[in-house]
Amino acid sequence: MKSQEISVTYTTSPKQKLPADQLVFGRTFTDHMFVMDYKKGEGWHNPRIIPYQPLTLEPSAMIFHYAQSIFEGMKAYKSKEGKVLLFRPEKNFERLNHSNERMCIPRVDEGFLLEALKKLVAIDKDWIPSAEGTSLYIRPFIIAMDPYLGVSPAKEYRLMIMMSPVGAYYKEGLNPVSIYVEDTYVRAAPGGTGTVKTGGNYAASLKAQELAEEKGYSQVLWLDARENKYIEEVGSMNIFFKIDGEVVTPKLNESILPGITRRSTIELLKYWGVPVIEKRISVEEIFEAYDAGKLEEAFGTGTAAVISPVGKLGWKDRVAIINDNKTGELSKKLYDTLTGIQTGKIEDPFGWSVEVNVDEILAAE
Ligand code: COI
Repeated sequence: MKSQEISVTYTTSPKQKLPADQLVFGRTFTDHMFVMDYKKGEGWHNPRIIPYQPLTLEPSAMIFHYAQSIFEGMKAYKSKEGKVLLFRPEKNFERLNHSNERMCIPRVDEGFLLEALKKLVAIDKDWIPSAEGTSLYIRPFIIAMDPYLGVSPAKEYRLMIMMSPVGAYYKEGLNPVSIYVEDTYVRAAPGGTGTVKTGGNYAASLKAQELAEEKGYSQVLWLDARENKYIEEVGSMNIFFKIDGEVVTPKLNESILPGITRRSTIELLKYWGVPVIEKRISVEEIFEAYDAGKLEEAFGTGTAAVISPVGKLGWKDRVAIINDNKTGELSKKLYDTLTGIQTGKIEDPFGWSVEVNVDEILAAE
């Protein structure tokens, strides 16, 4: 795979870029995209960078009917000195193959994909915003392509990477969001697809999300499918609680998405010497800690959201207002440190930042 040349076709009509203060999440896209095809017997082939454009698919394409697809979410940043940085991209591509495995999609060479991504980012480098709180969101995804209505793994796939200059994921920014604990619908069950990034998980979450919004909340907190008792994750994030000086987060299981920001948060807390434990946590325990005045902070972690403080937690007829509905000290420190490392503002003691050598890549073109 490595030996395959990535062909490049440049756009002849570059698009207008929005000013940084008008950037929202995922509404506008850069000038180019990466595309690669798979055919059984031929493998992944024809890697190419082309102008961002619509797809032409048969109505019978399998993706439309049985949802065999996966995706990833990652970001590129521009440092003050103009360096282009990716954050732990190898972890995203490792997870992409974990998702592929569960969804019967053929593996992709992770090293080659990183090479392709770097080339795409280098070509669209002028799309990386640098204002505070902005970044270039990167969405790799794979869809089943065969025109066929039988239920079976496809024989043809298309992998694409598109990119979107973004501001904060939530309209609240770093201000606290409100979260409703869902106790009727479930996101994922043991043995299901909860640990992988596949569109169906998100489609299944929409009903509860809509109901939570009707109640005035911005996100749903999911409980386990077996007992409706243990905390799993939030709509688009993993979740952490600071209780009596100790940080707790649900231990990964058969239905929780293994977030890369989750993992980085745990590693940062350990590095700082802040006690952090991964364990099964019931929603009752959280409300007991709240009643005892020990629930100090709650926050979500995710690529899109980074660190998102939770100021209000609703569950049945109970409401917990956390840290006076203000951004907590630890949430702020985590946000500043993670975004500081991501944007090259502060030193990266972990080797998480991967620089894209734009000049070298473009010179080789
Ligand atoms: C991400 O954080 O990158 C996600 O994929 C979550 C979401 C926007 C679906």
